[in-house]
Amino acid sequence: MLSPRLFHKILGVALFLFPCCAEGKPAGNWLLPVFGHLVGDGRDEGFMPGMQFPPPFLSRSEDVIRQLEHRISRLEGVLRFKKMITESGGKIFATNGKKADFDTTMKKCKEVGGSIATPRNPGENDAILYFVKDANTYAYLGMKESLIPRKFQFLDGTELNYTNWHLNEPSGKGEEECVEMYTDGTWNDKKCNQNRLIVCQF
Ligand SMILES: *[C@@H]1O[C@H](CO)[C@@H](O)[C@H](O)[C@H]1NC(C)=O
Repeated sequence: MLSPRLFHKILGVALFLFPCCAEGKPAGNWLLPVFGHLVGDGRDEGFMPGMQFPPPFLSRSEDVIRQLEHRISRLEGVLRFKKMITESGGKIFATNGKKADFDTTMKKCKEVGGSIATPRNPGENDAILYFVKDANTYAYLGMKESLIPRKFQFLDGTELNYTNWHLNEPSGKGEEECVEMYTDGTWNDKKCNQNRLIVCQF
């Protein structure tokens, strides 16, 4: 069942992938034909041709929710097809294909309602690795060194309950506060000012 949270996620992904629109520049009216339907009247043309709206046995809101689900699942199909999103559990990961340092990556992800990709289990690590491999470019992850050298934590300060360090990492002895993902999915501690692939989660 479609939740407002999921809708918000999808919208965030769309704005992330089409930054022209997030930054407020005129971008044509692609957003309207796609999302106008989502919030518009269900009797608009274009939905499941042949089906009559509203069927007498469905309430108006069930009707709208079905159309939203149908439309969003098709959008997800397009984004997967274009290699723009991956999913694991309830999380959606996306890249815009650009590179940035750690702080800029955080900012870019936040601007579009997401956050920097943070793998919390092997499935999520793989979902991020997909982009790292595809772009053949390392990516920063949402974790940082704590005040104790070589002890890393999630950005909210909680302890890592999953790690995938490369052999003999972390090795920065407090000098490398960020974490990057290698193209084999393992992690390395690294200074935060390198250019790395931007991967966000939603
Ligand atoms: C760590 O905790 C998060 C939720 O707090 C969970 O989603 C994740 O799967 C956990 N990771 C492992 C490896 O158990």
